[in-house]
Amino acid sequence: MSSFSSSNVSTSPIEGQKPGTSGLRKAVKVYQQQNYTENFIQCTLLAGLGDKLVGSTLVVGGDGRYYCVDATRRIIKICAANGVSKLIVSQNGLMSTPAVSCVIRKYKTDGGIILTASHNPGGPNADFGIKFNTANGGPAPESVTDAIFELTKTITEYRICHSLEADITRLGIQTFQVDGRDFSVEVIDPVKDYVDYMKEIFDFSLIGQLLSDGLNVLINAMNGVTGPYVKKIFVDELGAQKSNVVNCTPLEDFGGLHPDPNLTYAADLVNELAKGHHGFGAAFDGDGDRNMILGQNAFFITPSDLLAVLADNLDCIPYFKKTGVKGYARSMPTSGAVDRVAKAKKQNCYEVPTGWKFFGNLMDAGRLSLCGEESFGTGSDHIREKDGLWAALAWLSVMANKKKSVEEIMKEHWKKYGRNFYTRYDYENCESTPANQMMENLNKFASDGSHIGQSYSSGGKTYTLAKADNFAYTDPVDGMVSKNQGIRIIFSDDSRIIFRLSGTGSSGSTIRMYIEGYEADPAMFSLDSQDVLKPLIEIALRISQLRELTGRQEPTVIT
Ligand code: G6P
Ligand code: ZN
Repeated sequence: MSSFSSSNVSTSPIEGQKPGTSGLRKAVKVYQQQNYTENFIQCTLLAGLGDKLVGSTLVVGGDGRYYCVDATRRIIKICAANGVSKLIVSQNGLMSTPAVSCVIRKYKTDGGIILTASHNPGGPNADFGIKFNTANGGPAPESVTDAIFELTKTITEYRICHSLEADITRLGIQTFQVDGRDFSVEVIDPVKDYVDYMKEIFDFSLIGQLLSDGLNVLINAMNGVTGPYVKKIFVDELGAQKSNVVNCTPLEDFGGLHPDPNLTYAADLVNELAKGHHGFGAAFDGDGDRNMILGQNAFFITPSDLLAVLADNLDCIPYFKKTGVKGYARSMPTSGAVDRVAKAKKQNCYEVPTGWKFFGNLMDAGRLSLCGEESFGTGSDHIREKDGLWAALAWLSVMANKKKSVEEIMKEHWKKYGRNFYTRYDYENCESTPANQMMENLNKFASDGSHIGQSYSSGGKTYTLAKADNFAYTDPVDGMVSKNQGIRIIFSDDSRIIFRLSGTGSSGSTIRMYIEGYEADPAMFSLDSQDVLKPLIEIALRISQLRELTGRQEPTVIT
């Protein structure tokens, strides 16, 4: 076994290393600055693992974007020097975010490091990200990310073992002696553990039967990390044709795609499904935790509706037959469609701030089985991340059980519960000063009780303000309070307007405006949500003065 010794390298704090909603997401060029990556990794290890650092086992994997391999090499050298005893590294550094969560839990490691900027574009001129997950398999809570940030402000040195090189292309265990301690790197197949788990959760033969009975699917991996998983699950296990899966080779720049599965960035899938040849379509983001589901003729299932339909049909999935249903949850801006199902089923439904990490505590406490977010995230307590492929398999399980099409299932659901019309407008990369000004004004509006009871009219509709606030959340498990989570403007008929600033962008400010209106009248169900919600959209733009303040007349993305 070869022996190595590590050294301390002096460094100084670098500004702006504050992890956001989902890790530290920055331009690749920022990460490539001297000591930038090293500083952040050193602080992550110290704050993330504390006195567990020496002797710990960690998982390392990434979405395959540019700089993943380089960062993985640095992480191995820094972990070796810091007394980590074992790293489980995915072959070639490729592992989806849900698979990392699955592997952390399966092998009971002390946590993991995920290299991804999720759905942000990749390449030398695009984004990179580093995210720390804790031993439960979920994103580190704010207490940990705050502690990491504090350390980045005072760091003076990092430890590294420069000469140690592990070969991450080769499966198997490589062992080293570092400063007299054993250190090993186990390179694993990124797909196997995850796929084995999916086979326990779902009835693959039932879903396979649905495909062989004639359901023509189209699965688009958007050149992200899910490609190998999609091929294994859909082609090898479920018997789909190779032509049923596209963009399945992970590329460092996602082939120039913006790997975000929504109606704008996954237009390819939408256009293909619109031709009517496929009965089910799905796309996933760069790191595989987001999903978009479409039916024949590009019938779109909003993430909020997806969550509600699954909530109503968990008995179609073998996993939940075993575990029972312990409760539902959604992020605050996600529509209330799932709340209606929870009420009917007499289940708790928690409303948490945006960010998957808020679900983890509820799951660990055994209070939550299924949850989702409007931002194309759906998942369950099988792991502690949202899970794109799981969502697709869950929907297919419902189809297989009900023997109905995507559209039939959705329409049946609306008939039973009514329809929560929903849309989100994104104004990407606005200048920060006016965006902050707008949020500040809205905050004043929300805290000024005198608007309650006022009427707002547009397009022949009138809404009465019932409640306005800046959403705050008290975690029912540990009592932690998270404030400033978005402005809620709620009308007397339960319609809602929500504003928040994105926490995942890497430059400027992205404003998100979420609009929701409920209709119980079946005559309305087939209408276009943009038409139904037009009056509320106008009112939202008027109250916020978004157009005047930012100069933006139109959003950059509508979902
Ligand atoms: C990431 C998190 C999600 C969250 C989303 C919000 O994808 O994993 O849980 O919903 O960010 O993004 P935003 O840009 O709206 O802050
Ligand atoms: Zn993602």
